[in-house]
Amino acid sequence: MQKKVAIIVGSLRKESFNRKVANEFIRLASENLKLEIVEIKDLSFFNEDIENNPPKEWLDYKKQLNDADAFLFVSPEYNRTIPGVLKNAMEIGGRPPKLNSWKGKPGAVVTVSPGAIGGMGSNHTIRAAAANLHVSVMAQPEAYIGLIKDKLLEDGITVDEKTEKFMRTFLEAFETWINRF
Ligand code: FNR
Repeated sequence: MQKKVAIIVGSLRKESFNRKVANEFIRLASENLKLEIVEIKDLSFFNEDIENNPPKEWLDYKKQLNDADAFLFVSPEYNRTIPGVLKNAMEIGGRPPKLNSWKGKPGAVVTVSPGAIGGMGSNHTIRAAAANLHVSVMAQPEAYIGLIKDKLLEDGITVDEKTEKFMRTFLEAFETWINRF
């Protein structure tokens, strides 16, 4: 059976490298996986005062998470940690605790950066937050896609052959991981 994977992109930038990589994951995924980006740009700041009476955009977003079988976080690194917009989206998805939309589902983390380290710091802080939200995060393979400007072809959209190969391997492992649940 085809599994639905909600992709959460941790950048709101129009020309985001992370969004480009997320779109490449969509292109490269096997027919057993249906990958879709769940938008986080319209979410207001999380506020515990309103978690039991949330605004419509929080509910719409949580419904998309509830409908997913798995989660793929594709994010930049900001100051060696999680971008605020992604952390906000993680909080909203996880509250109130009885309605934690992440709970018990498999997930994976990919970080993308123009820098050489590939967002490794961010990758591990996202893993920690996701694990606390009760996402079962795939341990291996890790995915730090650094020097992304050198890995995109001239169209500025498609990744080069080597990166594509890595992404296919990652997706195969993720599919196996998802099917364990
Ligand atoms: C960055 N950037 C960055 N890069 C990195 O590899 N490690 C880091 O710690 C940071 N810190 C950081 C902080 C802030 C506030 C900004 C705006 C940027 C650079 C970042 O990787 C770059 O802007 C990417 O292009 C952002 O990802 P998207 O938007 O292209 O997906």
